[in-house]
Amino acid sequence: MLNVALPKGRLGERVYSMFEKAGFPCPSIRENNRKLIFENEEAGVRYFWVKPSDVAIYVERGAADVGVAGKDILLEYRPDVYELLDLKTGKCRMAVAARKGFRDDMNRTLRVATKFSNIAGEYYSGLGRDIDIIHLNGSIEIAPILGLSDVIVDIVETGTTLKENDLEVIETVIPISARLIANKSGFKFKSEQIERLMESLSEQIEFEESGKQ
Ligand code: PRP
Repeated sequence: MLNVALPKGRLGERVYSMFEKAGFPCPSIRENNRKLIFENEEAGVRYFWVKPSDVAIYVERGAADVGVAGKDILLEYRPDVYELLDLKTGKCRMAVAARKGFRDDMNRTLRVATKFSNIAGEYYSGLGRDIDIIHLNGSIEIAPILGLSDVIVDIVETGTTLKENDLEVIETVIPISARLIANKSGFKFKSEQIERLMESLSEQIEFEESGKQ
C-alpha cells in the first residue's frame, strides 16, 4: 500500500488527478469532502488530505511514503525527505513587497514581516543587509500598512492580495512550485511503485509543458 499525503485544496485536487492518471485511482476521494483518509486496496493506494504546510511532516516521519509540498515549505523547514520531482504546478513566487513608493534606507535595520523567517533571513544575509524579522502566521500584508514592518516576504500568486492592500513587489526572492517528495526509507521499500508513479508524472508534466509552447 502506497501512502500519499496530499495538500488539502485546489492544488491537491489537481495533483490527485495526476496520481489517478498514473495508475493510483481512488474514486471515493471525489465523493466525500469531509473524510480525510481514502483507500483503494485494489490499486494499492491510500490518500490523506492534510494541511499543505504539514505534508512534509507526514512524509518525513513516515506516516506517508510520498506527498506533495510547495518548494516554499521545503526551503523554510528543510525536512529530511527526498525531493523527487518538480510537478510544475502550484506555481507562484516568494517575493519582497512594500507600500508603494517605499525606499530602503540602508542606514537603518530593515523590519521584515513574514511567515518564512528562514527564507527571509537567508535572502537578506546573502545581500549583507541587516534585518529584524517579525514572525507572523498569516495576513502578512497588514504589517507594512500598520507600520509594524517596512517590507514583507511572502508568497505572491496572482498579486491580487498585494494590489487590494496597496502594496507592490519590490524583489523576487525565488520562484515556487509543487514538488513530489518521498520518505527516505519508504523510497527504498516501495521503490517499484514510486518509480512507476514518477515515470507517469514526468510524462504528464512533459505533455502539459509541450502544450504550452
Ligand atoms: C497566500 C499569501 C498571500 C496570498 C497571495 O496567503 O500569503 O496572502 O496567498 O496570493 P495572491 O497573490 O493570489 O493574492 P494564504 O491564502 O496562504 O493565507 P495566509 O498567508 O493569510 O494564511
